Amino acid sequence: MAIQVKNNISWVGQRDWEVRDFHGTEYKTHQGSSYNSYLIREGKNVLIDTVDHKFSRDFVANLEKEIDLAAIDYIIINHAEEDHAGALTELMSRIPDTPIYCTTNAIDSINGHHHHPEWNFHTVKTGDSLDIGNGKTLIFVETPMLHWPDSMMTYMTEDAVLFSNDAFGQHYCDEHLFNDEVDQTELYEQCARYYANILTPFSRLVTPKINEILGFNLPVDMIATSHGVVWRDNPTQIVAKYLEWAADYQEDRITIFYDTMSSNTRMMADAIAQGIHDTDPTVAVKIYNISRHDKNEILTQIFRSKGVLVGSSTMNNVMMPKVAGMLEELAGLRFRNKKASAFGSFGWTGGAVDRIQTRLMDAGFDIALSLKAKWRPDGKALEECREHGRKIAREWALHPLNETRAPVQPVESACGCNAEPKADAGVSMICTVCQWVYDPELGEPLQDVAPGTAWSDVPESFLCPGCALGKSVFDPL
Ligand code: FEO
Repeated sequence: MAIQVKNNISWVGQRDWEVRDFHGTEYKTHQGSSYNSYLIREGKNVLIDTVDHKFSRDFVANLEKEIDLAAIDYIIINHAEEDHAGALTELMSRIPDTPIYCTTNAIDSINGHHHHPEWNFHTVKTGDSLDIGNGKTLIFVETPMLHWPDSMMTYMTEDAVLFSNDAFGQHYCDEHLFNDEVDQTELYEQCARYYANILTPFSRLVTPKINEILGFNLPVDMIATSHGVVWRDNPTQIVAKYLEWAADYQEDRITIFYDTMSSNTRMMADAIAQGIHDTDPTVAVKIYNISRHDKNEILTQIFRSKGVLVGSSTMNNVMMPKVAGMLEELAGLRFRNKKASAFGSFGWTGGAVDRIQTRLMDAGFDIALSLKAKWRPDGKALEECREHGRKIAREWALHPLNETRAPVQPVESACGCNAEPKADAGVSMICTVCQWVYDPELGEPLQDVAPGTAWSDVPESFLCPGCALGKSVFDPL
């Protein structure tokens, strides 16, 4: 059943109360999801996005109750992933000549899934517009990597509605459509989970893209996402939240996760947490056994944390497989501005902790000393764990603790001269999107960047040879 969104805009999407898995089984949707499609009836009739392919028939049947399909003048596909463009085959079988407006990248994906290159595609890029009559216009804004290279948003003038697709959405199902109608705690839990698990790798792109959109100085009365609620009450609250989350977000919080063969590593986790709490009672500490808890919730907690402690028993001289899988996920999510440390119990040999430590370093965490215990920790070993927790609490503190410390002495220049070398001389930089590495020794001759050029001297016009994005997405390697 359609729901009026504003004036001549209706929601014609699909709720999915029972979906529990997204992206294979990697994202657990405990609160279901929705696939929001919108029908605009102005001088022209416009459909914005469709729904997941498994609801294709229901979608077209329901849409037909709202409008004669032949009367749809334009279809806008903001993003070609199957949860939004999935019903195209069913719909286009009924109206095969209807123009489809999307980005160039989206055509590749739509053809790859639907295999109809003869469809009437019209490519758009940022700033392009489409007159839909009654003095209203659709303006397109490309948003590559939010969340796929093909993604874009569509802004409707006069009504001032931004159809944002995945961005600002949540995997959240509720009979209510608008943000002011649902439980706010549930809503923001799902927003944070969605950002942490899906958008974190692209945080470097979020801020400039939002600023680009804000730079158009367009009023925004509603943000109509493609999952979850439509933001109509103070819609830019979620934009402000994204800017906060994209800025190396952290709270005064530490997450500990582990897997354990005989509870020995669990005992270490408990004692480390006690030590942290002893020294800094204000820091929030959460502990999870990764084999018993929702992985996406743990990742969300890490996203919120200033640091993470990762524990594993040693099994066959390596870490336990669920911990290894989680570390792979952490590497992909590319969390920034976070500290980390490994711990674990071992019996015959202790390979797990060293491997975890290396993987954490590769994933971009700022590493603290690790801790091992042989066999089941006794009273002395548990006190060492508590002391380790106290050290971690001191090293990772975000506020002064009740401790006396020696003042840090300034270090004299080794050469005794005033000349300061470039702070980034010799520092390689990695593209946080495609992992291409800039090596200052090699430069980038194809863009006239000579060997020996420090990153700070590379021109701002530089584009990553791997993904064509700018300098802002690079981090020190
Ligand atoms: Fe909701 Fe990227 O699809």
